[in-house]
Amino acid sequence: MRVADIEADLAQILVTEQEIHAKLDELAVRVAQDYAGKDLILIGVLKGAVMVMADFVRALPFHAPMDWMAVSSYGAGTKSSGVVQIRKDLDTDLHGKHVLIVEDIIDSGLTLSWLLENFESRGAESIEVLALLRKPDAAKVEIRCKYVGFDIPNEFVVGYGLDYAERYRNLRDIAVLAPHVYS
Ligand code: XMP
Ligand code: MG
Repeated sequence: MRVADIEADLAQILVTEQEIHAKLDELAVRVAQDYAGKDLILIGVLKGAVMVMADFVRALPFHAPMDWMAVSSYGAGTKSSGVVQIRKDLDTDLHGKHVLIVEDIIDSGLTLSWLLENFESRGAESIEVLALLRKPDAAKVEIRCKYVGFDIPNEFVVGYGLDYAERYRNLRDIAVLAPHVYS
């Protein structure tokens, strides 16, 4: 698909690449202060969080190991089913670790609420969440998210790792997908 065709599928650019990088730098300063001297592990949720993790981990001023979990709750549609399946589990034992979950977006919150419960049962010392985006108007369960990038309107967004049917992940900005694409 050519760039011009991708642009025709977008209703509006919501957050630019520059705004994302500035925000991740800001969050990295806070995380570095909060976790100084602690055994921190970053856990990315595949695949949406790949870009957030890549830029966030490079903004941190110290080593932080990463691990990845792949879950699925959406299929090819635009609404969360709430039924979470583990597609790839962690390689790391979380016992005694300070876990920071790195997420692209909190939409309904159903996926994260399931993940938080799952990680708590693995004996982590602490668990916090960093999410680049959050849709306050879409919340079905409340998620305590310590590090939030941007609160956005309740519209389906793509880009910077976020996909619609595996497309648009490589857009540099975050954009609202035009409804004609999925309706
Ligand atoms: P929930 O609703 O469980 O969302 O908080 C879980 C995962 O679904 C993906 N998601 C989106 N992906 N545009 C996307 O491309 C969106 O607007 C959107 N909302 C949710 C995302 O991976 C999130 O972690
Ligand atoms: Mg996703």
